Amino acid sequence: NRGALWVSTLDGRIKGFDWDAHDEGSFRELMRVNGWVDVDAQTNGNSDHVKVKIVTSNEERNEFFFPGFIDTHIHAPQYPNAGLFGSTTLLDWLETYTFPVESGFGKTNTTPSNKPEDAPPSALRVYDQVIARTLSHGTTCASYFATVHVPATNALAALAHKRGQRAFIGRVCMDNPSFCPDYYCDASAEESLESTKSTIEYIHTLDPKGVLIKPIVTPRFAPTCSRPSLKALGSLAASYTPPLHIQTHISENENEVALVKELFPECSSYAGVYDNYNLLTERTILAHAVHLTPEERQLIQKQKAKVSHCPASNSALGSGIALVRTMLQEGITVGLGTDVSGGYSSSILEAVRQACLSSRLVGHTTKYVNENPQPDGSEKLSVEESLYLATRGGADVVCMGDDLGGFDNGMIFDAQLIQLGGVCEDVVSLDVSGNGVSGDELSVRGGPVGNVDIFGTETWEEKIQKWVWSGDDRNVKAVWVAGRMVHERV
Ligand code: GUN
Ligand code: FE
Repeated sequence: NRGALWVSTLDGRIKGFDWDAHDEGSFRELMRVNGWVDVDAQTNGNSDHVKVKIVTSNEERNEFFFPGFIDTHIHAPQYPNAGLFGSTTLLDWLETYTFPVESGFGKTNTTPSNKPEDAPPSALRVYDQVIARTLSHGTTCASYFATVHVPATNALAALAHKRGQRAFIGRVCMDNPSFCPDYYCDASAEESLESTKSTIEYIHTLDPKGVLIKPIVTPRFAPTCSRPSLKALGSLAASYTPPLHIQTHISENENEVALVKELFPECSSYAGVYDNYNLLTERTILAHAVHLTPEERQLIQKQKAKVSHCPASNSALGSGIALVRTMLQEGITVGLGTDVSGGYSSSILEAVRQACLSSRLVGHTTKYVNENPQPDGSEKLSVEESLYLATRGGADVVCMGDDLGGFDNGMIFDAQLIQLGGVCEDVVSLDVSGNGVSGDELSVRGGPVGNVDIFGTETWEEKIQKWVWSGDDRNVKAVWVAGRMVHERV
């Protein structure tokens, strides 16, 4: 009964082998031939000699490995606000909830510092918590927006590095005083640029080869940025070899789209603004893309810019429904984002679920029907397709499709071990012939664990569907980044 054995080699990459699952000898032979010490060495604490980690799935226990999730759009400083948005929509949400919470991550207009220690202790607590939380949801790679503050942004990079999460870290640029509140605004385009360079240098010193942590140029969105700032950021990203990644927001909300039209009358469209300043590149992540015109989609596809679909956020803030199927059919690369705290959940599994749901409603919108007069249901995303967006799609969005998002030979072992099944361990007496039970006979122990009940009749496809629709972080038993365990459920 030969099976597949995956190992994560010392450099964190995947190697697949055939081996006889029932033959201990063949396994030891495999180890010997490859010059690897055996599994026991790991538990002996002799970690210097451990060259492989053994990773196998266990069908009977309903456990399986899954590629780590990639969150292509999340705001780390907004994590304390997850779930708090009332009935606001984007522009009043920014003013009421978002700018106030982000402004607490440091002081603007103080002596420049790039030291994480200069960040407020409360900022470090929030940042460490959001990294720990996203890891617990199986997110092995995240593209983070931080705030305008250099010390706290650098601290976010250092904390992600310390916890072993793969991360893109962006210091948010916002220097347009006519849109940004006076308590939370870069002093000038020059200061915004210098602060951005300072975080890039810090991250390049922290992780010179960008093994885990990479900087990402982050103009918040067109309304918060002056023209000189947009121009400088486009040039800054292009001045590196390879060019730096870029992230921003686009066409999330109809009032926002109207505002951009008003602020940049000389540009052909919202996407045209970014293109004008060389911010539409193959390394650009555009969050939302709900209200793009067909011409804008064509431009984005031409420039090979990527889209982060954030369905939970789009429903929560009433932004609208993105045309994911249309974008995919047009050849645009799409991944998923939680967009905490526009999105209420830091779980990409929740984003998978919401991507499925919103795709089932998009055919009821005039925007979709205008482009597709007779919806035929093909706009709906399957569970498998949404999971693809959460893994391989996300890997393509961050331009790491050769390394991340799957378990192909040579890919990096960024993975989560999923455990399903919450059926009560000790079935209480099924004898229901009595005349009811008295209070002190009630069994309150041995209740189900997690929210996914498996009865043993399910196919693997059905188990995956149950995981997507009912699963949560209780199903994430452990998480690895580059073969290193970075989270284990307690
Ligand atoms: N547009 C500008 N800033 C933001 C933000 O923080 N979140 C979301 N969802 N959209 C934005
Ligand atoms: Fe966002």
